Amino acid sequence: MSKALSNRINSLPISQTLAMAAKARELKAEGKDIISLSLGEPDFNTPDFIKNAAIEAINQDYNSYTPVDGYLELKEAICNKFKRDNNLEYTPKQIVVSTGAKQSIANIAQVLLNPGDEVLLPAPYWVSYSAIATLCEARFVEIPSSIDNDFKITPEQLEAAITPKTKMVFFNSPNNPSGSIYTEEEYRALAKVLEKYPNIFILSDEIYEHINYGVTHFSFAAIENMYDRTITVNGLAKAFAMTGWRIGFIGAPEWIAKACTKMQGQITSGTNCIAQRAAITAVSATPDKVQYMIDEFKSRRDIVLGLLGKIEGIKLNVPEGAFYIFPDISAFFGRTIKGKEIKDANDFSMLLLEEANVASVTGAAFGAPNCIRLSYAASELQLREAVKRIREVLS
Ligand SMILES: Cc1ncc(COP(=O)(O)O)c(C=O)c1O
Repeated sequence: MSKALSNRINSLPISQTLAMAAKARELKAEGKDIISLSLGEPDFNTPDFIKNAAIEAINQDYNSYTPVDGYLELKEAICNKFKRDNNLEYTPKQIVVSTGAKQSIANIAQVLLNPGDEVLLPAPYWVSYSAIATLCEARFVEIPSSIDNDFKITPEQLEAAITPKTKMVFFNSPNNPSGSIYTEEEYRALAKVLEKYPNIFILSDEIYEHINYGVTHFSFAAIENMYDRTITVNGLAKAFAMTGWRIGFIGAPEWIAKACTKMQGQITSGTNCIAQRAAITAVSATPDKVQYMIDEFKSRRDIVLGLLGKIEGIKLNVPEGAFYIFPDISAFFGRTIKGKEIKDANDFSMLLLEEANVASVTGAAFGAPNCIRLSYAASELQLREAVKRIREVLS
């Protein structure tokens, strides 16, 4: 019956992060002791002060449909957050709250992209960007980077990728999967190029904003002449350990926010009322309330980098944010390990799963075929054990 499915769904790839997680679950169910470092999900619980706000909302009988773009009180709190953390002035009419940042991004793509438009994706990039662009029948164009440049693109590369069909560019800092963070200076240099192309829109995905180990976060929309064509995306999933609550939001030019509301109004309506009430408390809290999680992530990052650094052939940089390590493992290509030929990062990732019982994600999924992604959103004990097993397989 799959022939009866639409071209739209048939053209959509399966998310490789979810596919790896499913494979790891399958092996676990068979009794294998799999350590899963494949998912982008904090291993902390949602902080109590946020949970309590949700309980209060239930007791106060919040149960009705919400405004499509979110409660006004939440949108006001988001405006305050943008001012406090990002020096960005938005009014509530410029804010749309959605069912996760994923829906925020899908809304933006749906309302701005026409078939044949080109979307520039500095690689490595989050897997869903390319899928979302494909769903809009747009063409995504990868701009490669390498570990030697901390997985960041240069202004020259950006300029070379632009064509008359370029409609959007997606920036993501701190980045999933590389953990790299663009400094203000680096973003300003990229903006200098975009100044020459006023028809290009910028999506700035800042969902890992607070998971940052020391580089000052800078929002692309804070560049004066970029504000009117930048959509700032953020959400609560990562820094607040609220993946399942499904709250994402944008700050955008009012006409784009209005279009996103129209789109969302026909697809999901306003997001969950209880989660929105809790979100008011979360976005109003200063980032120091979640610093304990960031400190823990940083300590784990340092441990994993230290241990992986002892394995010959694994090339590392120091990720400045998010909770991933993105080693270049291309030195293993062409070798045979445990009877398995390693042709590419897919083979390498599969080797780790089958021989070390460690689930990772191939860099190919992120447009970086020399790398794999390891998430360190796992306990220190698990991380030490995982690297020990990887070392044993590779040595
Ligand atoms: C870069 C990036 N953007 C957006 C999202 C989606 O976040 P949400 O869970 O709020 O939909 C993720 C989640 O993995 C992500 O890594």
